[in-house]
Amino acid sequence: MKAEVWFAPGRANLMGEHTDYNEGFVLPFALAQGVTAMASARDDRLLVLRSKQAPDQSVTVSLDALTAGSVSGWAAYPAGVAWSLGTAGYPLRGASIDVDSDLPVGAGVSSSAALECSVALALCSLAGISVPRPELAAIAQRAENEFVGAPTGIIDQSAALRCQERHALLLDCGTLETAQVPFWPASAGVSALVIDTRVTHALVTGEYAARRIECEEAARLLRVRALGAVTDLGRLYEIDDPVLRRRARHVITDSARARAVAAALRTTDGLADQQETYRFVGKSLVEGHASLRDDFEVSWPEADLTVDLAIAAGAYGAKMIGGGFGGSVLALVPTERAGAARAAVTDGFAERGSPHPEFLDAVPSPPARRLA
Ligand code: GLA
Repeated sequence: MKAEVWFAPGRANLMGEHTDYNEGFVLPFALAQGVTAMASARDDRLLVLRSKQAPDQSVTVSLDALTAGSVSGWAAYPAGVAWSLGTAGYPLRGASIDVDSDLPVGAGVSSSAALECSVALALCSLAGISVPRPELAAIAQRAENEFVGAPTGIIDQSAALRCQERHALLLDCGTLETAQVPFWPASAGVSALVIDTRVTHALVTGEYAARRIECEEAARLLRVRALGAVTDLGRLYEIDDPVLRRRARHVITDSARARAVAAALRTTDGLADQQETYRFVGKSLVEGHASLRDDFEVSWPEADLTVDLAIAAGAYGAKMIGGGFGGSVLALVPTERAGAARAAVTDGFAERGSPHPEFLDAVPSPPARRLA
């Protein structure tokens, strides 16, 4: 049987960081970069997983022997997806899958979800199964939560599967309702740059989980199911603990910023209007970053430095993206200043003796799809 090729993109998040598992709002867009899974069906029940990025870490497992935690390393993500589809009642066939990626790993651009979603679509197609994308996102998230053991939310898988080209996706993580928000910075002479600080993170490690627990405790104190249900900042004074109060303030304000940025992008028409909008979006990015740095305490020195350098070089605004403690910054820069902004960040890192940053053009791109 002929191999099928499936692709799923990485993402950058305009606004709403750490709001997904709090049932708040997020506003990601899909990148052009992502993960490709070339898959062919097998006559046995084996799953053979190979990656171009980890050629000496191929894994062969039986579909019938998959249990949470039974596979480690990169292959845990695709194996976890097979496990999760199986536990959701979808009968799979054995498959050989070769993956390749042009996304940096641990850079906060959601390489794990791109891997999960490309493989999920390939496995479904080979088995002749069609799963609605919102459900598939939840199945992939479950693989990451329960099989891999990273307590992440739903933004990354939703972005990979549900974003549209030239749009950002406003996702209400409480109801999983979505709205497509026009987002095409090039039409306003603006470049969206992802700046990988080359400080890598690992979500399985403690800080991410610790934030999640703090948010749950804050929600309990406010007697709500999740912090996303709270919009009134006055309620923060019901929380005595200053740390929990700051965590909750971040979630409430970032979720509100995601909605405000979406509203601004939606109501923009003319070019003059667009400049105004990007100034507002940029200001919101800066506020979002400050909130992640000071209230949620998940930023890292190279991210703070990148934001400062990008703004000094003329960016409308910039913020860290993803879980934090390493990874990337998203900057919105007038295109004529993009070169200067790159140079300023590169020089600033060199002066400080930090790793050489990498730059990725962040172009709002189509969702996961079959390539061949
Ligand atoms: C990581 C997680 C997401 C989300 C972000 C922070 O990317 O995978 O679920 O929580 O961090 O917004």
